[in-house]
Amino acid sequence: MEKIRKAVIPAAGFGTRFLPFTKSTPKEMLPIIDRPTIEYIVREAMESGIDEFLIIINESKESIRTHFGNNVQLEKFLEEKHKKEELDLIKELPNKIKVEFTYQYQQLGLGHAVLCAEEFSNGKPFALLLGDDVYVGNNNVPATLQCINAYNETGSTILGTLKVRDEDVSKYGICEPFDMNCKDRLVKLKSVVEKPSLDKAPSNLAIGGRYILLPSIFKYLKTQERGKGGEIQLTDSILRSMAETSAYSYEIDGRRYDLGSKRGFLEATVDFALDRDDLKDDMIKIIKDRASKI
Ligand code: UTP
Repeated sequence: MEKIRKAVIPAAGFGTRFLPFTKSTPKEMLPIIDRPTIEYIVREAMESGIDEFLIIINESKESIRTHFGNNVQLEKFLEEKHKKEELDLIKELPNKIKVEFTYQYQQLGLGHAVLCAEEFSNGKPFALLLGDDVYVGNNNVPATLQCINAYNETGSTILGTLKVRDEDVSKYGICEPFDMNCKDRLVKLKSVVEKPSLDKAPSNLAIGGRYILLPSIFKYLKTQERGKGGEIQLTDSILRSMAETSAYSYEIDGRRYDLGSKRGFLEATVDFALDRDDLKDDMIKIIKDRASKI
């Protein structure tokens, strides 16, 4: 079976839920403390064994490209000041990995963004990580690695999923397993449906921004008609591909933060600070102080 070495990160959406910030700055550059969201995502892929990266951007998202390149002037400045720690912080990723970029010129939806990765995929299966979903995998196993392990077991399309509350099913692609009573994390799927109303949702198993896709997906994306919200939906093409190749849901063991939403941004900031030795005590003090005044 083909080893998963490539990752595609779509980051070309307008990010309307985070306006006015996203008028000038990509939501993928929202910081969780001191790193942009998309850096956590790239690191997750690195830690999952990926060594080829494609980020899909639009013309107003050049700051993402800048972040993954070298800043020669700043490097020189830090070298002269003997600031080794800071130098390592900005040189580590450009030294370790090569990130390619491509443009999605019209924001026609996630399916359309993924179609921009056909050349990069070069006939190989690849991991897809949405540019605004951050995971902290349990037992130090990154979410993408969990999905890759599921792919290695099945050789099939893998949808990384999470269980969501009833009121949230209409915000996600929702999975229909063959065996609705199966308690395993890995379950074979009968169908998938994008953003169903609660009465039409087959389950609470939502696609959570992590996928392993087979190269045959492009065949379906090329002929995909617009779906929910008038967008070219990846979920619709995955459903069509299931007539030919099987797909599985893998329920990710970990915590997800939706950085495209304000609540997710707040949660990530608090949790990541609580998880850091240099910030934990300050964050606890801030929380206690504010809570005592409410
Ligand atoms: P979202 O569903 O969060 O859409 O996209 P969005 O347009 O970015 O944000 P909102 O809903 O208006 O606030 C999920 C991921 O897919 C990318 C986004 O950048 C994000 O990482 N995307 C979405 C594209 O690359 N192109 C698109 O046309 C749509």
